[in-house]
Amino acid sequence: MSKIAVSKVEVLVLVEDYTGFTELFGEHGFSVLVTIHYDSDEELRVLFDTGRTGRGLIENSKLLSVDLAGVNYIVFSHRHYDHTGGTPSILNSLKNKPIIAHPDIFKPCYAESRGFLRFNVGLTPDTRKVLQEFELVLSRKPLEISPGVWFLGEIERYYDNSYAVKTFKTIRDGEIVDEPMLDDTALAVKLGDIVLTIAGCSHSGVSNIARQARKITGSSDVILFGGFHLANSNLEEAERVVRELLGEGLIEAHAGHCTGLQGEAVLLGKLKKNMHKIHSGYRVVYEI
Ligand SMILES: [Fe+2]
Ligand SMILES: [Fe+2]
Repeated sequence: MSKIAVSKVEVLVLVEDYTGFTELFGEHGFSVLVTIHYDSDEELRVLFDTGRTGRGLIENSKLLSVDLAGVNYIVFSHRHYDHTGGTPSILNSLKNKPIIAHPDIFKPCYAESRGFLRFNVGLTPDTRKVLQEFELVLSRKPLEISPGVWFLGEIERYYDNSYAVKTFKTIRDGEIVDEPMLDDTALAVKLGDIVLTIAGCSHSGVSNIARQARKITGSSDVILFGGFHLANSNLEEAERVVRELLGEGLIEAHAGHCTGLQGEAVLLGKLKKNMHKIHSGYRVVYEI
């Protein structure tokens, strides 16, 4: 029996740092709803990340007429508070639903800033508390969660991603050590020869994410959506990463969150009309 195939995908930004020209809320964080339609008429709804506070997620969902209770799966791009902090706010509507993430989400995460350590930039204490109310699916390996829809798992570091992890630390055996953010991953949806890839912060290196999405799905072209984490990189690094992305078949980008103005400018320079800036309420639909 042949597998059902994806016929249409809709990505809707529920909350983001930028509000565009809308009346929606913005916060430093990221949450998107991905709705996948199949040729069998079945539908799958994935909530990718939950934003920072839950306020933006809940209020914007109401304003956008999104019923969060219809979500089938929750996926965490990684453990940072601005991607997982809204989780307590969805407990009422999504209790016992699966949350798919990498097992390292429970590791402590600190961020270095001007010689000081900022503690607890991973899961907030409130998020840790509510996680037991969901079904946690912690996978290091890629997982096809539904036909043509992949949780990419741990991303292979083929290209240098040091620019995207340089401020992060953790604690091991009583010692502060560098944190490689192995939990940072993405969601990929195969649409014919194209793979639509949704990333949160891309600490694994956005070009590594594109490479893994392409490899796993066997696609030739890549459309990327989300935070590309070029905000802390210098111009040479941003240009190098965008070159790698083009080499990995990038044909279209929908970037925001931690992409940064410089990263967005480099992407715009290369992709022209195929580079878009995302915001709360931003929506794209692909049909094949
Ligand atoms: Fe982030
Ligand atoms: Fe992050």
